[in-house]
Amino acid sequence: MAWWIVLLLCIGNSGAHVMDILNKSDPSLEESLLSLLQRLKLEEFYDTLLVYGGDCVLHSLSRRLDVSTVLVSSGSTNFDWNFSSLTLILSCDPDAEREVTYRTLMKLQRNRRLIYLQRNIQPKSVCNSYSQKEQHNVAMVREHFDKLGVIYACRYFEDPNFEKISLWDEKPIYIENFRNMHGKAIRTVADLLPPRSMIHLDAKSGDMQMMGYVANLINNYAQKVNATLQLEVLNNKFIVREILKMVENEQLDIGTTLDISLRTAILETSSYPYILTSYCLMLQVPAKLPYNMVYAMIVDRLVLGIIFALFCLLSILLIYSKKMSWQDLNLANILLNDKSLRGLLGQSFPFPSNAGKHLRLIFCILCFASIMMTTMYEAYLQSFFTNPPSESKIHSFQDIGKYQPKIAMPSIEIEALIKTNNSYFQEIQKDALIIFDNLPEYAKLRDAFNLNYSFVVTGDRWSAYAEQQELFKDPVFYFARDLCFSRLIYMSIPLRAHLPYRHLFEEHMMRQQEFGLVSHWRSHSFFDMVRLGLTPLKDLSRPKTISPSILLDDISWILKIYLAATVLSICCFLFEIGGEKWLRWRELRN
Ligand SMILES: *[C@@H]1O[C@H](CO)[C@@H](O)[C@H](O)[C@H]1NC(C)=O
Ligand SMILES: *[C@@H]1O[C@H](CO)[C@@H](O)[C@H](O)[C@H]1NC(C)=O
Ligand SMILES: *[C@@H]1O[C@H](CO)[C@@H](O)[C@H](O)[C@H]1NC(C)=O
Ligand SMILES: *[C@@H]1O[C@H](CO)[C@@H](O)[C@H](O)[C@H]1NC(C)=O
Ligand SMILES: *[C@@H]1O[C@H](CO)[C@@H](O)[C@H](O)[C@H]1NC(C)=O
Repeated sequence: MAWWIVLLLCIGNSGAHVMDILNKSDPSLEESLLSLLQRLKLEEFYDTLLVYGGDCVLHSLSRRLDVSTVLVSSGSTNFDWNFSSLTLILSCDPDAEREVTYRTLMKLQRNRRLIYLQRNIQPKSVCNSYSQKEQHNVAMVREHFDKLGVIYACRYFEDPNFEKISLWDEKPIYIENFRNMHGKAIRTVADLLPPRSMIHLDAKSGDMQMMGYVANLINNYAQKVNATLQLEVLNNKFIVREILKMVENEQLDIGTTLDISLRTAILETSSYPYILTSYCLMLQVPAKLPYNMVYAMIVDRLVLGIIFALFCLLSILLIYSKKMSWQDLNLANILLNDKSLRGLLGQSFPFPSNAGKHLRLIFCILCFASIMMTTMYEAYLQSFFTNPPSESKIHSFQDIGKYQPKIAMPSIEIEALIKTNNSYFQEIQKDALIIFDNLPEYAKLRDAFNLNYSFVVTGDRWSAYAEQQELFKDPVFYFARDLCFSRLIYMSIPLRAHLPYRHLFEEHMMRQQEFGLVSHWRSHSFFDMVRLGLTPLKDLSRPKTISPSILLDDISWILKIYLAATVLSICCFLFEIGGEKWLRWRELRN
């Protein structure tokens, strides 16, 4: 009997436990929610549950799923949410989630949310309040979910703004709302720095449109997601700075400009890198030497030395092989050997009638050397007269301002270089810089190839200049690849921090890049600029008029050397005559 009592007590006790659990949560509701969570896991994997709010059925559910769970009963976490983003958010109440931390809000913006509606709250108002917070992946279930099996999923662009989906439907619960924006506006401002973005009026509709390799990307995106572009035009001299500020203040969705990685390390307000490029100096092509310096150019001291050594060697050999003895060898015979001299200069000289084998061989060497020398100098002189060599280029940042004009730089880029502690920039003397606050004015000077300045340019802008210079007779500027502030900077599109379709935009950007459209636009950018009348299709290099014939000035050096040599030989001649007279006069006196 006593055993029976103990047994009954035990059963009663565990029964009370079971009742306790059942009282807390309805078993069939829990089962159907569990199958909903499993379905969600199949649709898109999650490995973390984040449960907001006080006690509700979702809490006991999380224990039965094999995923890690974070309970946030207070409604907000006071730390940055650094965990992986494969998170499903469950809320016991529409108001349970009260996150305030900036980073956590950003990180959890796109995560899927499932909300348990307990009282008679309307799904419409819940969707509204979440979309105001720019959280669009929201679905709700009611208390009687087990009986009706209805899920309310928010649909931002539809009316009503939610959809009823049965648990057994094939339809996806969460959709990418922003794949079709139904004509909603994307706010943007173009920087109007060609060739990134250029405004023109459409011939057919008369609307303002933009083109350029940044503008096209944004145009195409708007077209792809069926949105309209709300394009503003600011006539501001700090245009890029202004756009970046507006994007930071969430006044714009996408800025039609490029933000360089040098400027900021924070990626919250910029996209994935759009363009990788270098950032270098754009210097003037050094001037050509004047024609009258050409002759001086080709008289190289080393070559002259070699020729002189050759001359002496040939003289010695000639002296020796004439009689096969050293008896005529003296300094005057070596230095004033007329056969060797005339031979090397390509002139005729007497050939001894009974020359031996050795002598003939040496004459052969002499003739060969003379052919080489005269043709070499002829070729040098003629090619340098057609295309004179250039003065030397600069190879270090310290030389800037000494040999080349001063560098014009926009202040926004200077600030970025100072902020990133750019060591090349620190090498430049401060008085070699001319600072421009007004970026469009700076761009205008650079576009006009103004010779009063040197410039800085990104490799990507340079490609359009290079294209333009193809038209010029002579290139005016060159891209100094050995004088770069950075060989790899990335440029990204400024995006609002809480932009809900950031991932779609970035995916679009990468696809355009992958397909080769971006490089196509970039290679065409110069001709687009010409088409819109932003740049003239003409030679801006101001070619110098070159007279077709050689002037006296061009050979002035040769004439001067000739004059000096003539004067010298007259002196020698006079000295010789005078010397003989003097000798004879001394003889007579004796
Ligand atoms: C069962 O729930 C009711 C209210 O729904 C509550 O009054 C009661 O105390 C609960 N019983 C237990 C054992 O928790
Ligand atoms: C998240 O990262 C930030 C900065 O990296 C750090 O300060 C913070 O403590 C991290 N939070 C957690 C919960 O690890
Ligand atoms: C694009 O948006 C317009 C509303 O501006 C809508 O009428 C049209 O059906 C949408 N197009 C598609 C393909 O959904
Ligand atoms: C800048 O660079 C110098 C040396 O080039 C270094 O001493 C200094 O600490 C750097 N400053 C910063 C802020 O990185
Ligand atoms: C260069 O500067 C001088 C005076 O400093 C000016 O006269 C000249 O017009 C300028 N040249 C160009 C192309 O702007």
